Amino acid sequence: MKVLLLGSNGQLGWELQRTRPDNITLTTSDFPKINFCNTGSINQCINSTRPDCIINAAAYTAVDKAEQEKDLAYRINHKAVLEIAELCRKNTISLIHISTDFIFNGRNFKPYQPDDTPDPESVYGKSKLKGEQAVRKILDDQALIIRTAWLYSAHGNNFVKTMLKLMKEKQNLSIIDERHMALPKPYGQLLKKT
Ligand SMILES: NC(=O)c1ccc[n+]([C@@H]2O[C@H](COP(=O)([O-])OP(=O)(O)OC[C@H]3O[C@@H](n4cnc5c(N)ncnc54)[C@H](OP(=O)(O)O)[C@@H]3O)[C@@H](O)[C@H]2O)c1
Repeated sequence: MKVLLLGSNGQLGWELQRTRPDNITLTTSDFPKINFCNTGSINQCINSTRPDCIINAAAYTAVDKAEQEKDLAYRINHKAVLEIAELCRKNTISLIHISTDFIFNGRNFKPYQPDDTPDPESVYGKSKLKGEQAVRKILDDQALIIRTAWLYSAHGNNFVKTMLKLMKEKQNLSIIDERHMALPKPYGQLLKKT
C-alpha cells in the first residue's frame, strides 16, 4: 500500500516514519515540500504522488500563538484539510486525519466519548474542529479521524522536554494538575492481562 505522510517532520510524523511497517510504502511530503497555505502546492503534492492513503499529521499546533494568528491557523487546520479531503474524494484516496482533544472544552468529569458534543474554546481547537467537520462531510466512511492528546517524541518540542529543561533551571515548578487520561475499555482490559 502506498501511503503519503503529511507533516513528516513533526513529532507524530517523525515517529510514524520511524515505525513504518514493512508492507507500507511511505512517501513523505518533503520532496516536493507541501505548503498547506497554497492550494496549488497541495494539488501538486497529492496529484504527483497518487497514494492509496494519506495520513495527515500536519497542523498548525502553536496553541497560544493561534490566538494572534487566527487566519493562518484556520488556513492550515481547516481550509487545507478541506482541500485535501476534496482531492481524496475525487481520487478515491483514504484519509487518516489527526485531530485533538482541544475540540472539547475540557470541563467533562468523565472521559470523553467520540460522540460527545464538541465545544472548543481556543482558536486552535475551533480550527481543528472545522477541519474534522470538513473531513466528515466530504469523505464520511472514506476517512478515519483520530483525536489524540499530549504527544511525546524525542523529536520536536513537548511537555516532557519542557519539564526536563525547567527541572534543571528551577527549584520549584507550578504545573497544571487537573488533567486526567483514561484508557478506552479494550485497552484497559488489554493492559490488565499483560
Ligand atoms: N502535540 C500534541 O501534544 C498534540 C496533542 C493533540 C493533538 N495533536 C495533533 O497531532 C497532530 C501532530 O502533532 P505534532 O505534535 O506532531 O505536530 P508538530 O510537531 O507541531 O508538527 C506539525 C507538522 O505540520 C507541518 N506544517 C505546519 N504548517 C505547515 C504548512 N503550512 N504546510 C505544510 N506543513 C505544515 C510541520 O512542517 P514543518 O516542520 O516543515 O514546519 C510539521 O511537520 C496534529 O494534527 C496536532 O493537531 C497534537
